[in-house]
Amino acid sequence: MNIHQLQQEILELKKKTDTVILAHSYQAREIVEIADYTGDSYKLSVVASETNAKNVLMCGVRFMAETVKILSPKKRVFLANSGAGCPMAEQLDTELLSQLKQAEPDRTVCAYINTTAELKTLCDVCVTSSSAVKIIKNIDSDKILFIPDCNLGDWVKKNVPQKDIKLVHGGCPTHAGITAKEVRKIRELHPNALFLVHPECTPEVVALADYVGSTSGIMDFAKNSDKREFIIGTETSISEHLQYDCPDKRFFPVTKDVVCRNMKLTTLPDVYNALNGDMSVACEIVMSDELIAGARKCIDEMIRLGG
Ligand code: 13P
Ligand code: SF4
Repeated sequence: MNIHQLQQEILELKKKTDTVILAHSYQAREIVEIADYTGDSYKLSVVASETNAKNVLMCGVRFMAETVKILSPKKRVFLANSGAGCPMAEQLDTELLSQLKQAEPDRTVCAYINTTAELKTLCDVCVTSSSAVKIIKNIDSDKILFIPDCNLGDWVKKNVPQKDIKLVHGGCPTHAGITAKEVRKIRELHPNALFLVHPECTPEVVALADYVGSTSGIMDFAKNSDKREFIIGTETSISEHLQYDCPDKRFFPVTKDVVCRNMKLTTLPDVYNALNGDMSVACEIVMSDELIAGARKCIDEMIRLGG
């Protein structure tokens, strides 16, 4: 079977099984093409709560599928590749967070959505990369503990200087690997290109950017810009999707090594097998009512303050 035949079968199975497919923008092109919705973490969590489909299949990483389940507990939610986690989401455990909270109980705990459901039960509000600055400005508190990404946290601190924001040491290994030296080198090769960057990159890299935003923010900026060349400071899929979407423009990844291996675990056959009920690679997200209720409060707060 070739890719197009497999995609066709997936489109039919999707209808037959009343399944909506969500794909984060770091997924491969052939997966993005068969998805009902693609986008950044914020968009995927909001569309998931609005869809009427009985089943949701997430092509992304585990915390994204958990977020869908938390917002739509009556739906059956599946992760197309059960091995796809986000290393950042697991950097901090509930014990350490409890200690941090005890040490400074007057801080509002703000979690990047890239966290486990268990950790979210201890947090007051969630943010995504696209909503972090707006939400932290809107929180009714001036003292914040921001977990677990110190790079995104640093970006927020610079944009909300009026608040006292404490960071913990953590972050995304994929984005942390992009260096300022690599950025300067590719800028020399493409001096007219704008540099668009994800706030999970280090402050040194973010300082060189012409635009800082989420995956959807970067894509929208490039599509709407009247400039023709862009250096993309995030996972390489974004350059690839943009090159398909805007054939008249040129997109250069900082390096081709900026690959999230977890996001790239999911394959088109995984999607097909999951829709066929084969759970040897996929899995269903199962969470207790107590965990869902505990984690939901901070996600509802995110939607309220970010909407
Ligand atoms: P976005 O919300 O920008 O899609 O980011 C999610 C993510 O995991 C980036 O590494
Ligand atoms: Fe997690 Fe980084 Fe992969 Fe995003 S790119 S899913 S933050 S490891």
